[in-house]
Amino acid sequence: MKFIIATHNLKKQAEMQRILAPLGIAVQTAAQAGLTLTDVEETGRTFRENALLKAESGCKETGLPCVADDSGLCVDALDGAPGVYSARFSGEHGNDEGNMQKLLELLRDTPKERRTAYFESAVCVCFPNGDVIDVSGRCNGWIGYEKKGTGGFGYDPIFMVGDKSFAELTSEEKDEISHRGNALRKLTAALNQYLNQPDKETL
Ligand code: IMP
Repeated sequence: MKFIIATHNLKKQAEMQRILAPLGIAVQTAAQAGLTLTDVEETGRTFRENALLKAESGCKETGLPCVADDSGLCVDALDGAPGVYSARFSGEHGNDEGNMQKLLELLRDTPKERRTAYFESAVCVCFPNGDVIDVSGRCNGWIGYEKKGTGGFGYDPIFMVGDKSFAELTSEEKDEISHRGNALRKLTAALNQYLNQPDKETL
């Protein structure tokens, strides 16, 4: 089965592909499938609302099952910020470097015990027949004092789990504990159940 993923982020696509491959699902961006998707404005107040907006729109436009993830970082000392504004925290959408610098600056005088944070990922799949599956996952950690490691993307170099940042983990190590890994494992279970219903075999 082919899923379109409503993102331009090839690292997210690769993470999803790795996790959903065992179900026989090929996850492609619209561009990889030779299609175009309109960019959806993320106007939702929650990760779930934004994931649903993106998956619904992608499914409508392509006529294929569409999966979307909306995720972000919630810092306890900042009352959950940047949250749904994670990608544009420093003003410019997708400026990872600026976002990390702003966060480090805001937490400059915050002691380690108050630097707790979590990543959350909401994942929705919309099917052309109107069915929707949605799940979410979390990963708890804390915000480091400086960037560490070179892997991953986004806030990975400053998001610490124990004494290592996400950017210091291998892809496999990150998948095992990450918010998206947790959400996608729930998605795998939900999809298995959904696709094994007799009337869904031909989807
Ligand atoms: P969106 O889900 O594409 O709207 O992006 C959410 C924001 O959270 C982006 O700034 C991402 O870089 C960041 N983000 C989401 N998941 C991760 C992750 O696994 N590691 C680091 N940053 C992430």
